[in-house]
Formats: sequence, C-alpha cells, structure tokens
Amino acid sequence: MNILTFRTNEELNEAGANIITSLVQTNPKAIIGLATGSSPIGIYEDIVKTFRKGAVSFRQVSTFNLDEYVGLPIDHPESYHNFMQRHLFDHIDVPASQINIPDGNAGSLTEECARYNRKLDDAKQIDLQILGIGHNGHIGFNEPSHALLSGTHIVELKAETREANARFFDSIDDVPTHALTMGVGAILKAKTILLVVRGESKAEIVHRALTGPISTECPASLLQTHSNVVVLLDAEAGRLFAE
Ligand code: F6R
Repeated sequence: MNILTFRTNEELNEAGANIITSLVQTNPKAIIGLATGSSPIGIYEDIVKTFRKGAVSFRQVSTFNLDEYVGLPIDHPESYHNFMQRHLFDHIDVPASQINIPDGNAGSLTEECARYNRKLDDAKQIDLQILGIGHNGHIGFNEPSHALLSGTHIVELKAETREANARFFDSIDDVPTHALTMGVGAILKAKTILLVVRGESKAEIVHRALTGPISTECPASLLQTHSNVVVLLDAEAGRLFAE
C-alpha cells in the first residue's frame, strides 16, 4: 500500500488528478470507477483544468460510479447523477453512452442491480477505482456488517451515514434511507484503488482501516487485502500515520 500525505489540499488534488490523467494518457480506453461525496471534488476540478488545457481526452474512457440513492429524482441537486454532471461530466468529453451509474429510480431495483453487475462483468476490470471512506469505515455504501456482499445491491443506510450526509440536504428527513451500491467484490477487483481521505474527523477511521484488523465491520479494512492501493491523505487525515 502506498500511503501519501500532503501538506495542502491543492497538492493532494494535483497528485490525484495526475494519477487519473496519466492513466488516460497511456490508456485512452481506461475504465474508471468514480466516487461522489466531498473527498474527490478537488481532484475532479483539477482533471477539468487539465482537460481544458487540451492535455487529455476522455472520449474513449468508460466510467462506473460506485453508488446512487434510491428514490431521489435524477435532477435533484444531491442525486449522484446530478453530482457527477456538475463536478465532472459537464466539463469533459466522456460520451454519455460510456457513463454508468446505478439507477436508484428503476422500477425493479433488483433487476437494476443485476443489470449493473452485467455491465461490470462486460467491462471485465476497472483500471482505477476512486474511493472515499465513511466515518464508520464504509466504502461505496457498503456499510459495516457481519457479512458483506460482492455484487451490486440495495443497502439500508446506517443512521450515522444519513447524519453525515444530512449536511447536503435541508434536513436529515430528506436524506434517502436506501441506496444502490457496487459490492466489495467489484471494488476489490479493480486493478488499482485510489483512496482519498481528508480532514481530522477521518484520521482515526482511516488509520484503523489500513492498519487494524481486517473485518467486515470496517469494510475499508478489506483494502488491506488488495495489492495495489494508493492512499491520498491531507495532513489532518494522515495525522496518525505520521506518529
Ligand atoms: C460516495 C461514496 C461514499 C463516500 C464516503 C465519504 O460515492 O461511495 O463511500 O466516499 O461517504 O464521503 P465524503 O467524501 O463526503 O466524506
């Protein structure tokens, strides 16, 4: 595991964006797994800057998002479809037909999970999967549990996850109770995993996940079993690694 700590968010963003744009420069048909949430936003902004300079094209890239809320209209400002358009897809040249995000409004959510799994299977392997980590150790929306699922599935969000995400909504009651998420099997199948963690409030969980016992009660701890994980931490999130 390659754990890198950055003094500033600007340096972290630049390093993260470089990893992704370099991948696409060397492999224009790269398959990239994307995350939402606050952690990757600065990296997406730097990717857009590089794209605007004409240094990279995403025309042949395919993307797979980790997750989506159930029942939130696609045009809701906090839907992950909307988030991705706003922060990345509206500003780069990836064709809409090559973008994959689970549909949390599908008539049959079970069939939607099966469809997403088929798409992932057809893609064979994600070249680079971006991840954030929840305060409870979740990755994607794979919440702590006595067992974890490998494939895309419906998940009931833990109270602490809804509380953490309430900052994006008018009130906690507006935060959806369920989501669709890629499973840990698909995440761990990626060739490279890029975990991005920022802020003091994540210092303990990221340290425990990457150095503590491997357990389904801390889904991010399973990253210890992967042979190619790059971790980008800001100084606050990386505090316990420096000790
Ligand atoms: C987002 C996702 C989540 C977030 C995690 C951290 O697609 O899958 O696992 O990465 O909740 O969220 P932030 O970055 O907002 O702290």
